[in-house]
Amino acid sequence: MEKRILLYLLICWSLASNLEKSMAAKARHYNFEVGYIYWSPDCEERMMIGINGRFPGPTIRAKAGDTIVIKLKNSLPTEGVVIHWHGIKQLGTPWADGTASISQCAINPDETFVYRFQVDKAGTYFYHGHYGMQRAAGLYGSLIVDAPDGEEPFRYDAEHSLLLSDWWHENVQAQTLGLSTIPFRWVGEPQTILINGRGQYNCSLAHFTGETSLCKITNSQCAPVVLRVLPNKTYRLRIASTTSLSSLNLAIGNHKMTVVEADGNYVKPVIVDDIDIYSGESYSVLITTDQNTSSNYWLSIGIRGRLPKTQPALAIINYHPNSLSKLPSSKPPVTPQWNKYSHSKAFTYKIVAMDGTPMPPAKSNRQIALLNTQNKIDGYIKWSINNISLAVPPTPYLGSMKYGVKNVFSAEKPPENFSEDYDVMRPPINPNSKKGSGVYKLEFNSTIDFILQNTNTLSENVSEIHPWHLHGHDFWVLGYGDGKFKKSDVAEFNLKNPPLKNTVVLFPYGWTAIRFVTNNPGVWPFHCHIEPHLHMGMGIVLAEGVEFVSKIPNEALACGITGQKLRN
Ligand code: C2O
Ligand code: CU
Repeated sequence: MEKRILLYLLICWSLASNLEKSMAAKARHYNFEVGYIYWSPDCEERMMIGINGRFPGPTIRAKAGDTIVIKLKNSLPTEGVVIHWHGIKQLGTPWADGTASISQCAINPDETFVYRFQVDKAGTYFYHGHYGMQRAAGLYGSLIVDAPDGEEPFRYDAEHSLLLSDWWHENVQAQTLGLSTIPFRWVGEPQTILINGRGQYNCSLAHFTGETSLCKITNSQCAPVVLRVLPNKTYRLRIASTTSLSSLNLAIGNHKMTVVEADGNYVKPVIVDDIDIYSGESYSVLITTDQNTSSNYWLSIGIRGRLPKTQPALAIINYHPNSLSKLPSSKPPVTPQWNKYSHSKAFTYKIVAMDGTPMPPAKSNRQIALLNTQNKIDGYIKWSINNISLAVPPTPYLGSMKYGVKNVFSAEKPPENFSEDYDVMRPPINPNSKKGSGVYKLEFNSTIDFILQNTNTLSENVSEIHPWHLHGHDFWVLGYGDGKFKKSDVAEFNLKNPPLKNTVVLFPYGWTAIRFVTNNPGVWPFHCHIEPHLHMGMGIVLAEGVEFVSKIPNEALACGITGQKLRN
Protein backbone atom coordinates (compact mmCIF):
# COMPACT_ATOMS: atom_id res chain seq x y z
CA MET A 1 0.00 0.00 0.00
CA GLU A 2 2.64 2.48 1.10
CA LYS A 3 4.74 1.45 -1.85
CA ARG A 4 1.92 2.44 -4.15
CA ILE A 5 1.61 5.85 -2.60
CA LEU A 6 5.33 6.30 -2.94
CA LEU A 7 5.17 5.29 -6.59
CA TYR A 8 2.29 7.70 -7.14
CA LEU A 9 4.23 10.51 -5.52
CA LEU A 10 7.26 9.68 -7.62
CA ILE A 11 5.21 9.83 -10.80
CA CYS A 12 3.67 13.14 -9.81
CA TRP A 13 7.07 14.53 -9.01
CA SER A 14 8.59 13.44 -12.27
CA LEU A 15 5.62 14.74 -14.26
CA ALA A 16 5.86 18.05 -12.48
CA SER A 17 9.56 18.36 -13.06
CA ASN A 18 9.15 17.48 -16.71
CA LEU A 19 6.39 20.01 -17.00
CA GLU A 20 8.62 22.57 -15.40
CA LYS A 21 11.35 21.81 -17.91
CA SER A 22 9.04 22.00 -20.90
CA MET A 23 7.50 25.20 -19.61
CA ALA A 24 10.92 26.75 -19.34
CA ALA A 25 11.86 25.63 -22.87
CA LYS A 26 11.80 28.44 -25.39
CA ALA A 27 11.76 28.85 -29.11
CA ARG A 28 14.69 30.96 -30.27
CA HIS A 29 14.25 32.67 -33.61
CA TYR A 30 16.98 33.73 -36.00
CA ASN A 31 16.98 35.19 -39.51
CA PHE A 32 19.99 34.24 -41.58
CA GLU A 33 20.60 35.80 -44.95
CA VAL A 34 23.48 34.06 -46.67
CA GLY A 35 25.39 36.00 -49.32
CA TYR A 36 28.78 36.94 -50.70
CA ILE A 37 30.54 39.76 -48.91
CA TYR A 38 33.84 41.57 -49.13
CA TRP A 39 35.71 40.94 -45.91
CA SER A 40 39.25 41.03 -44.54
CA PRO A 41 39.48 38.11 -42.13
CA ASP A 42 43.29 38.29 -42.07
CA CYS A 43 43.62 41.97 -43.07
CA GLU A 44 43.62 41.10 -46.80
CA GLU A 45 40.32 41.71 -48.48
CA ARG A 46 38.68 38.82 -50.27
CA MET A 47 35.24 37.71 -51.32
CA MET A 48 33.67 35.22 -48.93
CA ILE A 49 30.35 33.88 -47.71
CA GLY A 50 28.80 35.79 -44.85
CA ILE A 51 25.55 35.76 -42.93
CA ASN A 52 23.58 38.99 -42.56
CA GLY A 53 26.50 40.83 -44.15
CA ARG A 54 29.08 39.67 -41.62
CA PHE A 55 31.64 36.98 -40.98
CA PRO A 56 31.55 34.67 -39.09
CA GLY A 57 27.82 34.06 -38.76
CA PRO A 58 25.85 35.06 -35.65
CA THR A 59 26.29 32.97 -32.51
CA ILE A 60 23.26 30.89 -31.71
CA ARG A 61 22.73 30.57 -27.98
CA ALA A 62 20.09 28.44 -26.33
CA LYS A 63 19.32 26.30 -23.32
CA ALA A 64 19.03 22.52 -23.45
CA GLY A 65 15.45 21.67 -24.41
CA ASP A 66 14.88 24.83 -26.44
CA THR A 67 13.70 24.82 -30.02
CA ILE A 68 15.76 26.77 -32.50
CA VAL A 69 14.10 28.25 -35.55
CA ILE A 70 16.33 29.61 -38.27
CA LYS A 71 14.80 31.23 -41.30
CA LEU A 72 17.52 30.91 -43.89
CA LYS A 73 17.33 33.06 -46.97
CA ASN A 74 19.71 32.24 -49.77
CA SER A 75 21.02 35.46 -51.29
CA LEU A 76 23.92 33.84 -53.14
CA PRO A 77 23.09 34.88 -56.69
CA THR A 78 23.70 31.61 -58.52
CA GLU A 79 24.25 28.72 -56.13
CA GLY A 80 22.30 26.63 -53.67
CA VAL A 81 23.06 26.52 -49.97
CA VAL A 82 22.37 24.45 -46.84
CA ILE A 83 23.57 24.75 -43.23
CA HIS A 84 24.41 21.81 -40.99
CA TRP A 85 24.13 22.11 -37.18
CA HIS A 86 27.19 20.17 -36.20
CA GLY A 87 26.73 18.06 -33.07
CA ILE A 88 22.95 18.50 -32.86
CA LYS A 89 21.29 15.08 -33.17
CA GLN A 90 18.09 16.16 -34.94
CA LEU A 91 15.99 13.59 -33.06
CA GLY A 92 12.68 13.54 -34.89
CA THR A 93 13.77 16.18 -37.44
CA PRO A 94 16.27 14.43 -39.73
CA TRP A 95 15.25 16.76 -42.60
CA ALA A 96 16.73 19.70 -40.66
CA ASP A 97 20.26 18.26 -40.57
CA GLY A 98 21.31 20.54 -43.43
CA THR A 99 23.20 18.15 -45.68
CA ALA A 100 22.70 18.78 -49.40
CA SER A 101 21.58 15.65 -51.29
CA ILE A 102 21.27 13.71 -48.05
CA SER A 103 18.72 15.37 -45.76
CA GLN A 104 17.38 17.99 -48.15
CA CYS A 105 17.71 19.74 -51.50
CA ALA A 106 20.08 22.67 -51.59
CA ILE A 107 18.05 25.85 -51.10
CA ASN A 108 17.86 27.75 -54.38
CA PRO A 109 18.93 31.36 -54.78
CA ASP A 110 16.27 33.72 -53.45
CA GLU A 111 14.45 30.91 -51.65
CA THR A 112 13.95 30.57 -47.92
CA PHE A 113 14.07 27.40 -45.85
CA VAL A 114 13.14 27.18 -42.19
CA TYR A 115 15.29 24.96 -39.96
CA ARG A 116 13.39 24.02 -36.82
CA PHE A 117 14.92 21.60 -34.34
CA GLN A 118 15.39 20.95 -30.67
CA VAL A 119 18.73 21.19 -28.91
CA ASP A 120 18.53 18.31 -26.50
CA LYS A 121 21.90 18.51 -24.84
CA ALA A 122 24.12 21.25 -23.40
CA GLY A 123 27.46 21.74 -25.07
CA THR A 124 29.75 23.64 -27.39
CA TYR A 125 28.72 23.25 -31.00
CA PHE A 126 28.86 25.14 -34.26
CA TYR A 127 27.18 25.28 -37.64
CA HIS A 128 28.51 25.35 -41.16
CA GLY A 129 27.73 25.02 -44.85
CA HIS A 130 27.44 21.44 -46.09
CA TYR A 131 27.26 21.84 -49.83
CA GLY A 132 30.37 21.71 -52.00
CA MET A 133 33.11 23.47 -50.11
CA GLN A 134 31.04 26.39 -48.81
CA ARG A 135 32.33 25.86 -45.30
CA ALA A 136 35.82 26.75 -46.50
CA ALA A 137 34.37 29.93 -48.04
CA GLY A 138 33.46 31.16 -44.56
CA LEU A 139 29.94 29.83 -44.01
CA TYR A 140 30.04 29.02 -40.30
CA GLY A 141 29.35 30.25 -36.77
CA SER A 142 29.04 29.12 -33.14
CA LEU A 143 26.12 27.30 -31.55
CA ILE A 144 26.21 27.09 -27.78
CA VAL A 145 23.72 25.24 -25.65
CA ASP A 146 23.66 25.99 -21.94
CA ALA A 147 22.79 23.40 -19.34
CA PRO A 148 19.50 23.86 -17.48
CA ASP A 149 19.99 26.12 -14.43
CA GLY A 150 22.08 24.49 -11.75
CA GLU A 151 22.85 21.39 -13.82
CA GLU A 152 26.36 22.24 -14.94
CA PRO A 153 28.62 19.73 -13.15
CA PHE A 154 31.49 22.17 -12.67
CA ARG A 155 31.82 25.75 -11.49
CA TYR A 156 33.19 28.74 -13.34
CA ASP A 157 32.82 32.49 -13.07
CA ALA A 158 32.61 33.46 -16.72
CA GLU A 159 33.37 32.14 -20.18
CA HIS A 160 34.89 32.96 -23.56
CA SER A 161 34.30 31.21 -26.89
CA LEU A 162 36.92 30.54 -29.53
CA LEU A 163 35.78 29.31 -32.91
CA LEU A 164 38.86 28.21 -34.85
CA SER A 165 39.19 28.00 -38.61
CA ASP A 166 41.75 28.24 -41.39
CA TRP A 167 41.71 30.57 -44.37
CA TRP A 168 43.05 30.60 -47.93
CA HIS A 169 43.51 33.58 -50.18
CA GLU A 170 42.54 31.50 -53.18
CA ASN A 171 38.77 31.42 -53.49
CA VAL A 172 36.79 28.24 -52.95
CA GLN A 173 35.70 27.89 -56.58
CA ALA A 174 39.35 27.79 -57.63
CA GLN A 175 40.18 25.37 -54.81
CA THR A 176 37.32 23.12 -55.87
CA LEU A 177 38.38 23.16 -59.49
CA GLY A 178 41.96 22.30 -58.56
CA LEU A 179 40.83 19.20 -56.69
CA SER A 180 38.97 17.84 -59.69
CA THR A 181 41.35 18.56 -62.46
CA ILE A 182 44.25 16.75 -64.14
CA PRO A 183 46.94 17.34 -63.08
CA PHE A 184 45.62 17.57 -59.56
CA ARG A 185 46.10 20.89 -57.77
CA TRP A 186 46.04 20.55 -53.99
CA VAL A 187 44.75 23.50 -51.95
CA GLY A 188 48.05 23.69 -50.05
CA GLU A 189 48.46 25.02 -46.56
CA PRO A 190 46.22 27.85 -45.35
CA GLN A 191 47.50 31.42 -45.36
CA THR A 192 46.06 32.14 -41.93
CA ILE A 193 44.54 30.48 -38.89
CA LEU A 194 41.53 32.45 -37.69
CA ILE A 195 40.17 32.83 -34.16
CA ASN A 196 36.54 33.94 -34.15
CA GLY A 197 37.01 34.79 -37.81
CA ARG A 198 40.02 37.01 -37.26
CA GLY A 199 43.71 36.54 -38.03
CA GLN A 200 46.74 38.50 -39.18
CA TYR A 201 48.42 37.43 -42.40
CA ASN A 202 52.08 38.24 -42.81
CA CYS A 203 52.28 39.92 -39.49
CA SER A 204 52.97 37.87 -36.46
CA LEU A 205 51.48 39.62 -33.53
CA ALA A 206 54.43 38.35 -31.52
CA HIS A 207 56.68 40.77 -33.37
CA PHE A 208 54.30 43.61 -32.89
CA THR A 209 56.04 46.48 -31.21
CA GLY A 210 53.30 49.01 -31.54
CA GLU A 211 55.21 51.10 -34.06
CA THR A 212 56.19 48.67 -36.87
CA SER A 213 53.99 49.56 -39.77
CA LEU A 214 53.97 45.90 -40.87
CA CYS A 215 51.66 45.08 -38.04
CA LYS A 216 49.57 48.16 -37.81
CA ILE A 217 46.06 46.84 -37.68
CA THR A 218 43.43 49.41 -38.34
CA ASN A 219 40.73 47.10 -39.61
CA SER A 220 38.46 45.71 -36.90
CA GLN A 221 37.67 42.71 -39.14
CA CYS A 222 41.14 41.34 -38.43
CA ALA A 223 41.86 42.86 -35.03
CA PRO A 224 43.60 40.46 -32.64
CA VAL A 225 41.33 38.57 -30.29
CA VAL A 226 41.64 39.72 -26.70
CA LEU A 227 40.13 37.71 -23.88
CA ARG A 228 39.54 39.96 -20.91
CA VAL A 229 39.84 38.30 -17.54
CA LEU A 230 39.76 39.30 -13.89
CA PRO A 231 42.42 37.96 -11.56
CA ASN A 232 41.70 34.89 -9.43
CA LYS A 233 38.67 33.66 -11.26
CA THR A 234 37.87 30.48 -13.14
CA TYR A 235 37.02 30.83 -16.83
CA ARG A 236 35.49 28.33 -19.16
CA LEU A 237 36.96 28.51 -22.65
CA ARG A 238 34.72 26.95 -25.27
CA ILE A 239 36.93 25.93 -28.17
CA ALA A 240 35.53 24.54 -31.42
CA SER A 241 37.31 23.84 -34.70
CA THR A 242 35.66 24.18 -38.07
CA THR A 243 38.93 24.20 -40.02
CA SER A 244 38.83 23.12 -43.62
CA LEU A 245 42.10 21.21 -43.29
CA SER A 246 44.23 21.96 -40.28
CA SER A 247 44.63 19.97 -37.09
CA LEU A 248 45.44 22.44 -34.36
CA ASN A 249 47.19 22.66 -31.03
CA LEU A 250 46.32 25.33 -28.49
CA ALA A 251 48.29 26.47 -25.46
CA ILE A 252 48.22 29.42 -23.08
CA GLY A 253 51.38 30.89 -21.62
CA ASN A 254 51.74 30.21 -17.85
CA HIS A 255 48.29 28.63 -17.56
CA LYS A 256 47.33 24.99 -17.38
CA MET A 257 43.95 23.93 -18.71
CA THR A 258 41.47 21.45 -17.26
CA VAL A 259 39.53 19.71 -20.02
CA VAL A 260 35.91 19.17 -18.95
CA GLU A 261 33.85 18.81 -22.14
CA ALA A 262 34.40 17.22 -25.53
CA ASP A 263 31.85 17.47 -28.38
CA GLY A 264 28.99 18.31 -26.00
CA ASN A 265 29.78 15.54 -23.52
CA TYR A 266 31.34 15.88 -20.10
CA VAL A 267 34.70 14.20 -19.71
CA LYS A 268 36.68 13.24 -16.66
CA PRO A 269 38.56 16.45 -15.81
CA VAL A 270 42.16 16.23 -16.94
CA ILE A 271 44.85 18.89 -16.54
CA VAL A 272 47.02 19.58 -19.60
CA ASP A 273 49.53 22.13 -20.90
CA ASP A 274 48.07 22.16 -24.41
CA ILE A 275 45.23 20.55 -26.33
CA ASP A 276 45.00 19.11 -29.80
CA ILE A 277 41.79 19.86 -31.64
CA TYR A 278 40.78 18.38 -35.00
CA SER A 279 38.28 19.76 -37.45
CA GLY A 280 34.79 18.95 -36.20
CA GLU A 281 35.75 18.71 -32.52
CA SER A 282 34.96 20.98 -29.61
CA TYR A 283 36.34 21.16 -26.09
CA SER A 284 35.69 23.18 -22.99
CA VAL A 285 38.62 23.85 -20.72
CA LEU A 286 38.76 25.67 -17.41
CA ILE A 287 41.57 28.06 -16.62
CA THR A 288 42.28 29.87 -13.38
CA THR A 289 43.64 33.39 -13.62
CA ASP A 290 46.10 32.99 -10.77
CA GLN A 291 49.23 34.29 -12.48
CA ASN A 292 51.15 37.52 -12.02
CA THR A 293 48.52 40.16 -12.66
CA SER A 294 50.92 42.79 -13.94
CA SER A 295 51.28 40.87 -17.20
CA ASN A 296 49.11 39.77 -20.10
CA TYR A 297 49.57 36.27 -21.58
CA TRP A 298 49.60 34.67 -25.00
CA LEU A 299 47.18 32.09 -26.25
CA SER A 300 48.73 30.45 -29.29
CA ILE A 301 47.47 28.02 -31.88
CA GLY A 302 49.66 26.09 -34.27
CA ILE A 303 49.25 23.38 -36.88
CA ARG A 304 49.72 19.64 -36.22
CA GLY A 305 50.16 16.73 -38.58
CA ARG A 306 51.25 18.69 -41.67
CA LEU A 307 54.51 20.53 -42.21
CA PRO A 308 53.28 23.99 -41.18
CA LYS A 309 53.67 26.86 -43.59
CA THR A 310 51.27 28.99 -41.63
CA GLN A 311 52.07 31.39 -38.79
CA PRO A 312 50.62 30.38 -35.45
CA ALA A 313 47.50 32.32 -34.49
CA LEU A 314 47.79 34.42 -31.37
CA ALA A 315 45.33 35.92 -28.95
CA ILE A 316 45.95 37.88 -25.77
CA ILE A 317 44.70 36.98 -22.31
CA ASN A 318 44.26 40.41 -20.85
CA TYR A 319 44.42 40.56 -17.05
CA HIS A 320 42.47 43.41 -15.54
CA PRO A 321 43.52 46.24 -15.20
CA ASN A 322 46.37 45.94 -17.73
CA SER A 323 45.97 47.73 -21.00
CA LEU A 324 44.56 45.62 -23.84
CA SER A 325 47.54 46.35 -26.00
CA LYS A 326 50.19 45.53 -23.43
CA LEU A 327 52.18 42.72 -25.01
CA PRO A 328 52.90 39.71 -22.82
CA SER A 329 56.35 39.75 -21.29
CA SER A 330 57.10 36.14 -22.20
CA LYS A 331 57.21 34.50 -25.64
CA PRO A 332 54.10 32.75 -27.01
CA PRO A 333 53.97 29.01 -26.22
CA VAL A 334 55.37 26.91 -29.06
CA THR A 335 53.32 24.14 -30.66
CA PRO A 336 54.87 20.67 -30.37
CA GLN A 337 56.72 19.54 -33.49
CA TRP A 338 54.15 18.95 -36.23
CA ASN A 339 54.85 15.24 -36.65
CA LYS A 340 55.34 14.33 -33.01
CA TYR A 341 52.32 12.03 -33.06
CA SER A 342 53.19 10.56 -29.68
CA HIS A 343 52.26 13.94 -28.19
CA SER A 344 48.89 13.98 -29.97
CA LYS A 345 48.14 10.39 -29.03
CA ALA A 346 49.00 10.99 -25.38
CA PHE A 347 46.47 13.82 -25.30
CA THR A 348 43.76 11.96 -27.19
CA TYR A 349 44.04 8.82 -25.05
CA LYS A 350 43.58 10.91 -21.90
CA ILE A 351 40.05 11.93 -22.85
CA VAL A 352 37.65 9.56 -21.08
CA ALA A 353 34.04 9.91 -19.99
CA MET A 354 33.01 11.60 -16.79
CA ASP A 355 31.52 9.24 -14.19
CA GLY A 356 27.82 8.85 -14.83
CA THR A 357 28.09 9.03 -18.64
CA PRO A 358 25.88 6.42 -20.35
CA MET A 359 27.76 3.17 -20.99
CA PRO A 360 27.94 1.40 -24.35
CA PRO A 361 26.21 -1.95 -24.86
CA ALA A 362 28.72 -4.69 -24.04
CA LYS A 363 28.58 -6.21 -27.52
CA SER A 364 27.82 -5.01 -31.00
CA ASN A 365 25.37 -6.56 -33.46
CA ARG A 366 27.41 -5.68 -36.48
CA GLN A 367 30.98 -4.66 -37.12
CA ILE A 368 31.83 -2.67 -40.22
CA ALA A 369 35.45 -2.06 -41.19
CA LEU A 370 36.18 1.07 -43.22
CA LEU A 371 39.44 1.20 -45.14
CA ASN A 372 40.53 4.79 -45.81
CA THR A 373 42.53 5.03 -49.02
CA GLN A 374 43.68 7.61 -51.48
CA ASN A 375 42.87 6.41 -55.00
CA LYS A 376 42.52 7.26 -58.62
CA ILE A 377 39.42 7.24 -60.77
CA ASP A 378 40.10 7.81 -64.47
CA GLY A 379 43.25 9.63 -63.49
CA TYR A 380 41.57 11.93 -60.97
CA ILE A 381 42.80 11.70 -57.37
CA LYS A 382 40.07 10.66 -54.92
CA TRP A 383 39.59 9.30 -51.41
CA SER A 384 37.71 6.06 -51.00
CA ILE A 385 36.19 3.93 -48.29
CA ASN A 386 36.48 0.22 -49.01
CA ASN A 387 37.36 1.24 -52.53
CA ILE A 388 34.26 3.37 -53.11
CA SER A 389 34.49 7.12 -53.41
CA LEU A 390 31.28 8.81 -52.27
CA ALA A 391 29.44 10.74 -54.97
CA VAL A 392 26.06 11.94 -53.70
CA PRO A 393 23.11 11.93 -56.11
CA PRO A 394 21.13 15.06 -57.03
CA THR A 395 18.00 13.78 -55.23
CA PRO A 396 18.24 13.69 -51.43
CA TYR A 397 18.45 10.22 -49.85
CA LEU A 398 16.07 10.92 -46.98
CA GLY A 399 12.99 11.78 -49.00
CA SER A 400 13.63 9.15 -51.66
CA MET A 401 14.03 6.38 -49.07
CA LYS A 402 11.07 7.47 -47.01
CA TYR A 403 8.74 7.63 -50.01
CA GLY A 404 10.25 4.70 -51.91
CA VAL A 405 11.41 6.63 -54.97
CA LYS A 406 13.51 4.28 -57.10
CA ASN A 407 16.77 4.80 -58.97
CA VAL A 408 17.91 7.75 -56.94
CA PHE A 409 21.11 6.17 -55.62
CA SER A 410 23.04 3.00 -56.27
CA ALA A 411 21.21 -0.10 -55.05
CA GLU A 412 24.51 -1.89 -54.60
CA LYS A 413 25.32 -2.73 -50.98
CA PRO A 414 28.56 -1.01 -50.01
CA PRO A 415 31.30 -3.39 -48.77
CA GLU A 416 31.62 -4.00 -45.01
CA ASN A 417 35.23 -5.06 -45.15
CA PHE A 418 38.38 -5.12 -47.21
CA SER A 419 40.76 -7.80 -48.31
CA GLU A 420 42.72 -9.32 -45.45
CA ASP A 421 46.04 -9.04 -47.19
CA TYR A 422 45.78 -5.28 -47.80
CA ASP A 423 49.10 -3.74 -46.73
CA VAL A 424 48.23 -0.56 -44.86
CA MET A 425 51.88 0.52 -44.70
CA ARG A 426 52.33 0.76 -48.50
CA PRO A 427 50.70 2.75 -51.29
CA PRO A 428 47.82 0.75 -52.85
CA ILE A 429 49.00 -1.93 -55.31
CA ASN A 430 46.00 -1.19 -57.49
CA PRO A 431 45.13 2.48 -56.91
CA ASN A 432 41.96 2.42 -58.99
CA SER A 433 38.61 2.75 -57.24
CA LYS A 434 35.12 3.70 -58.34
CA LYS A 435 32.46 6.23 -57.49
CA GLY A 436 29.43 5.08 -55.54
CA SER A 437 26.28 6.33 -53.83
CA GLY A 438 25.18 3.13 -52.03
CA VAL A 439 23.78 3.27 -48.50
CA TYR A 440 24.73 1.28 -45.40
CA LYS A 441 21.29 0.20 -44.19
CA LEU A 442 21.42 -0.38 -40.45
CA GLU A 443 18.80 -2.25 -38.50
CA PHE A 444 16.90 0.08 -36.17
CA ASN A 445 17.91 -0.03 -32.49
CA SER A 446 20.95 -2.15 -33.06
CA THR A 447 24.52 -1.66 -31.91
CA ILE A 448 27.05 -0.92 -34.63
CA ASP A 449 30.82 -0.85 -34.46
CA PHE A 450 32.86 0.97 -37.05
CA ILE A 451 36.54 0.22 -37.33
CA LEU A 452 38.26 3.02 -39.21
CA GLN A 453 41.47 1.78 -40.77
CA ASN A 454 44.07 4.22 -42.02
CA THR A 455 46.57 3.40 -44.78
CA ASN A 456 49.44 4.80 -46.76
CA THR A 457 48.37 7.37 -49.39
CA LEU A 458 49.41 7.23 -53.05
CA SER A 459 52.85 8.55 -52.06
CA GLU A 460 55.41 6.39 -50.24
CA ASN A 461 55.67 6.92 -46.49
CA VAL A 462 52.71 9.27 -46.20
CA SER A 463 49.62 8.65 -44.13
CA GLU A 464 47.38 11.52 -43.08
CA ILE A 465 45.18 12.45 -40.13
CA HIS A 466 41.44 12.08 -40.76
CA PRO A 467 38.94 13.38 -38.21
CA TRP A 468 35.73 11.39 -38.73
CA HIS A 469 32.37 12.93 -37.90
CA LEU A 470 29.04 11.15 -37.54
CA HIS A 471 25.74 12.96 -38.02
CA GLY A 472 22.68 12.20 -35.90
CA HIS A 473 24.60 10.56 -33.07
CA ASP A 474 27.19 10.61 -30.40
CA PHE A 475 29.33 7.49 -30.37
CA TRP A 476 31.58 5.85 -27.82
CA VAL A 477 35.24 5.79 -28.75
CA LEU A 478 36.28 2.26 -27.82
CA GLY A 479 39.90 2.40 -28.80
CA TYR A 480 42.75 3.41 -31.02
CA GLY A 481 45.73 1.48 -32.25
CA ASP A 482 48.75 1.62 -34.51
CA GLY A 483 48.99 -0.47 -37.68
CA LYS A 484 46.32 -2.84 -38.82
CA PHE A 485 43.31 -3.70 -36.65
CA LYS A 486 43.29 -7.31 -35.44
CA LYS A 487 40.32 -9.36 -34.31
CA SER A 488 41.96 -9.71 -30.92
CA ASP A 489 41.89 -5.91 -30.45
CA VAL A 490 38.18 -6.22 -29.63
CA ALA A 491 39.16 -7.72 -26.27
CA GLU A 492 41.06 -4.50 -25.48
CA PHE A 493 38.14 -2.15 -26.16
CA ASN A 494 37.51 0.40 -23.42
CA LEU A 495 34.03 -0.45 -22.14
CA LYS A 496 34.69 1.11 -18.76
CA ASN A 497 34.76 4.85 -19.49
CA PRO A 498 34.80 5.40 -23.27
CA PRO A 499 34.21 9.07 -24.13
CA LEU A 500 31.08 10.01 -26.06
CA LYS A 501 32.01 12.11 -29.08
CA ASN A 502 30.67 13.06 -32.49
CA THR A 503 34.09 13.46 -34.13
CA VAL A 504 37.12 11.28 -33.63
CA VAL A 505 40.63 11.31 -35.00
CA LEU A 506 42.09 8.54 -37.12
CA PHE A 507 45.86 8.73 -36.72
CA PRO A 508 48.28 8.05 -39.60
CA TYR A 509 48.77 4.29 -40.15
CA GLY A 510 46.40 3.58 -37.27
CA TRP A 511 42.87 2.44 -36.53
CA THR A 512 40.02 3.86 -34.43
CA ALA A 513 37.01 1.91 -33.16
CA ILE A 514 33.64 3.46 -32.31
CA ARG A 515 30.26 2.08 -31.20
CA PHE A 516 26.79 3.59 -31.39
CA VAL A 517 23.12 2.59 -31.25
CA THR A 518 20.90 3.21 -34.26
CA ASN A 519 18.15 4.97 -32.33
CA ASN A 520 17.64 8.05 -34.50
CA PRO A 521 15.48 7.51 -37.58
CA GLY A 522 17.02 9.21 -40.57
CA VAL A 523 19.81 9.18 -43.14
CA TRP A 524 23.17 10.25 -41.75
CA PRO A 525 26.56 10.77 -43.30
CA PHE A 526 29.73 9.60 -41.58
CA HIS A 527 32.72 11.31 -43.13
CA CYS A 528 36.15 12.82 -42.83
CA HIS A 529 35.70 16.41 -41.66
CA ILE A 530 38.53 17.73 -43.79
CA GLU A 531 36.62 19.72 -46.40
CA PRO A 532 38.72 18.77 -49.47
CA HIS A 533 38.78 15.10 -48.40
CA LEU A 534 34.99 14.94 -48.12
CA HIS A 535 34.73 16.69 -51.43
CA MET A 536 37.02 14.03 -52.91
CA GLY A 537 34.71 11.26 -51.71
CA MET A 538 35.83 10.45 -48.18
CA GLY A 539 32.58 9.45 -46.54
CA ILE A 540 29.70 7.02 -46.37
CA VAL A 541 25.93 7.33 -45.93
CA LEU A 542 23.96 5.40 -43.30
CA ALA A 543 20.21 4.86 -43.04
CA GLU A 544 18.32 3.69 -39.95
CA GLY A 545 14.61 3.47 -39.10
CA VAL A 546 13.61 5.60 -42.10
CA GLU A 547 10.12 4.06 -41.85
CA PHE A 548 9.74 5.84 -38.49
CA VAL A 549 10.53 9.28 -39.88
CA SER A 550 7.40 11.43 -39.75
CA LYS A 551 6.14 13.54 -42.62
CA ILE A 552 9.01 15.35 -44.28
CA PRO A 553 8.30 19.03 -45.02
CA ASN A 554 7.82 19.60 -48.78
CA GLU A 555 10.62 22.14 -48.98
CA ALA A 556 13.11 19.43 -48.04
CA LEU A 557 11.82 17.25 -50.86
CA ALA A 558 11.06 19.56 -53.68
CA CYS A 559 13.92 18.92 -56.06
CA GLY A 560 15.01 16.18 -58.42
CA ILE A 561 12.85 13.10 -58.92
CA THR A 562 11.18 13.34 -55.51
CA GLY A 563 10.07 16.87 -56.28
CA GLN A 564 8.50 15.80 -59.56
CA LYS A 565 6.59 12.93 -57.91
CA LEU A 566 5.39 15.29 -55.25
CA ARG A 567 4.06 17.77 -57.76
CA ASN A 568 2.25 15.10 -59.80
CU1 C2O B 1 30.57 19.32 -39.48
CU2 C2O B 1 29.01 16.52 -42.09
O1 C2O B 1 29.90 17.96 -40.84
CU1 CU C 1 40.47 13.04 -44.41
